[in-house]
Amino acid sequence: MLETKISVAFYGHVRQYHNIRAEIDANMQEVLESGQYVMGPMLQRFEKELAEFHGTKYAIGVGNGTDALWLTFKALGIGRGDECITTTNTFFATAEAIWIAGATVVFVDSDPLTNCIDPAKIEAAITPQTKAIVPVHLYGQCADMKAIRRIADQHHLVVIEDNAQGIGAHGDSFRIAELSNAATLSFIVQKNLGTFGDGGAIVTNDPQIDRIVRKLRNHGSDKRSCHSPGYNSRLDDLHAGVLSAKLKHVEEWTELRRQWAGRYSAGLANARNITLPFEVPGYRHVYHLYVIETKRPEHRDGLLQFLNDEGIDAKCHYPIAIHQQEGFPWAHEARIVGLIANSERNAACCISLPMFPELTEEEVDYTVDRILDWDRRAR
Ligand SMILES: Cc1ncc(COP(=O)(O)O)c(C=O)c1O
Repeated sequence: MLETKISVAFYGHVRQYHNIRAEIDANMQEVLESGQYVMGPMLQRFEKELAEFHGTKYAIGVGNGTDALWLTFKALGIGRGDECITTTNTFFATAEAIWIAGATVVFVDSDPLTNCIDPAKIEAAITPQTKAIVPVHLYGQCADMKAIRRIADQHHLVVIEDNAQGIGAHGDSFRIAELSNAATLSFIVQKNLGTFGDGGAIVTNDPQIDRIVRKLRNHGSDKRSCHSPGYNSRLDDLHAGVLSAKLKHVEEWTELRRQWAGRYSAGLANARNITLPFEVPGYRHVYHLYVIETKRPEHRDGLLQFLNDEGIDAKCHYPIAIHQQEGFPWAHEARIVGLIANSERNAACCISLPMFPELTEEEVDYTVDRILDWDRRAR
């Protein structure tokens, strides 16, 4: 057991800023001096870089990851009376965006190993109203997009990947946005590519989605003074400048995340009372979150409290599944198909350990040591 108590933060935003301060400051300065802060040249530059990063034809910057989802739904004509199939163990915004578009949320269970949507559960949820499947690449690992694509083709459905958490991830033979109509991203500060505030984007190869979302995000306008009803959801140029500077580091940061995940997994391999994250062979998990589960739900809150007391800012993502939130479904349209036992287990047992590229060996080893100490004493 390590004797010295240290503090381990959950996020490393300021460390990251300090490491690449000159690059971020230079881009922000460039925007400030350009005099163009909304839909200016920095946004154009970042959109081009983001499309190149994904190997897609288009990238469209919007206000946040939630808007990215519902703007894409609207561009695909999804609205009242349509059903979208997704999972309940995701951030609330996945379902919220479906409701904002006016559609019905249909929840199916998640895969017990990856916690992403279980393709085997999707077909039972399909009705004549089903329009879309919305897989979430939960914690930074891709859902089984090949199986989802097959189902979508058989039933003529569209697929929108909620990739708020997995920039840089890929499957064994597919990239993000390759097997779907579009993938959406969130750039809220804590994401693997995060700005100092809110931001989001859509990446797609579909020129229709690109054209419609570009118009919708800008008050229904693609030409000065010509409008049709739309919204205001643009990625500001200052955020685009921060993101452009950070995008160049995402690959090296992903490797660091994977390195810390490997160190956690090696250190915790013999713990008896927890389950470690599962990496699908051949997939690249980008560890937006490193999520362990207690084998017994009654252990979760105790372990979380113990870690917090030991100075480790562990958290839960997401301790209350959407369908278990108070007031669900708030007079909105929702269906639950079959048992969602895996999602419920995940919600009851999950603990996210500190995970960011700028962690140190001392911080990771201390966290491992404290968990092993708890594990030895757990009953
Ligand atoms: C899975 C998922 N979907 C959607 C969102 C919404 O993104 P934003 O907060 O940028 O609106 C987030 C993150 O916040 C998320 O984790």
